[in-house]
Amino acid sequence: MDAFRIIGGCRLSGTVRASGSKNASLPLIAAALLTDRPVTLADVPDLSDIRNMLNLMGELGCSIGKQAHEGGSTTIELHADPDGSSHAPYDIVKTMRASICVLGPLLARRGFARVSMPGGCAIGDRPVDIHLRGLRALGAEIELDQGDITARVPRGGLRGATIFLGGPFGSTVLGTANVMCAAALADGTTVIESAACEPEIVDLAHMLRAMGAHITGDGSPRITIHGVSSLNGVSHTVMPDRIEAGTWICAGAMVGDDLTITNCPMDSLLALTSVLEPSDISIELLDPTSPQRSTVRVRRAGTIRPAVVTTQPYPGFPTDIQAQVMALLALADGNSIITERIFPDRFLHVAELSRMGATLNRQGPMVVVSGVKALHGAPVMASDLRASASLVLAGLAATGTTTISRVYHLDRGYERMDERLQSLGADIERFKEVRK
Ligand code: EPU
Repeated sequence: MDAFRIIGGCRLSGTVRASGSKNASLPLIAAALLTDRPVTLADVPDLSDIRNMLNLMGELGCSIGKQAHEGGSTTIELHADPDGSSHAPYDIVKTMRASICVLGPLLARRGFARVSMPGGCAIGDRPVDIHLRGLRALGAEIELDQGDITARVPRGGLRGATIFLGGPFGSTVLGTANVMCAAALADGTTVIESAACEPEIVDLAHMLRAMGAHITGDGSPRITIHGVSSLNGVSHTVMPDRIEAGTWICAGAMVGDDLTITNCPMDSLLALTSVLEPSDISIELLDPTSPQRSTVRVRRAGTIRPAVVTTQPYPGFPTDIQAQVMALLALADGNSIITERIFPDRFLHVAELSRMGATLNRQGPMVVVSGVKALHGAPVMASDLRASASLVLAGLAATGTTTISRVYHLDRGYERMDERLQSLGADIERFKEVRK
């Protein structure tokens, strides 16, 4: 298995480009099942999660063309055969929970879907009950059969409805994507109340509109969809990855000498920048006219100040940057409080950061972070995608050598992170860890 060896203490300088968004790409790829015309997606990141999704699309009768570009991103052409299989098997779904986002498109376009029920994962239970409630409200007949969700369009087709998608932890991002896709081809008008407001949903709505769907209100908690009978092909450029960009900002805030981030969606990172505001961290917007794809320069100028951070649905602080900001606040000059309100058990990084000298005290969904002057290199283990990113950040800032095992978790969501960090001056190498 691959591992990273990081010798901490180097300051980062140079330019890095935030990739196209992983979490936007996954439902966009699935939405290609809604049409029998070609769908072309530009700036899709080259990541293991995306490869798994394309593998699933192949199983579902989709032909896939891929054109790699210098620097890593790819353009993908998807062409779905409406008579392809409607079965997303356990073997693929178990590698990636986001496979659930084929459920709505398959149901709407093919009238039937069989999708293995995703299990829990390192960050929590992650049920899909709200997805199913939303699709049932459109008339879908849904059952659980041997661990698979089977969903069938009723006689007369899916019908628009008013649907509430709120749950105990707010709305659901992929649930909103599933219902929006299914409603795009339903008969009549659907109103989704308590819809997810995440920018990835707005990106999906943009693409569906370009395919001929009638959708308004995306980006707000009420989305209205007037169903149409068919959708066209489309060419769409994926939005930049706000979580990757946020991770680069944290890196700049911790060890940035003069780090420039391009393709950076600053407009969707306000919750992060407001946490950094009291610190001596310089975040300079070099082109204020394009907040969705900005160029920003980040530099640590002095002390990191403590903060109170609570993760919330967008536009609140993203759960996907909680682990990275914990690594940053571990070095603050005081006590911070981090509360996780989306995935209350998403704290596998706490024990690993503690091995590096962070002073962390967890009480249920809350962690008190008592800042220390320095972190120290140690052997640590990556446990999930964002926890891995926080360990990389901690390793860059620590004194001495950090080895991070199981970096395949990181490779799910960050493209060639080691190579990109090297180009910015970090002392980091990937090696094959020999299992003892
Ligand atoms: N939830 C339910 N029932 C449901 C669906 C969700 O109770 O039917 C709960 C979840 O357990 C969680 C909350 O609602 O407590 C929000 O979950 P959501 O459904 O929004 O998560 P998701 O759509 O499965 C996406 C991202 C995650 C990100 C979350 C929250 C993708 C592929 N995944 O997951 O990204 O953390 O939204 O913003 O878009 C990551 O990239 O590291 C990652 C985990």
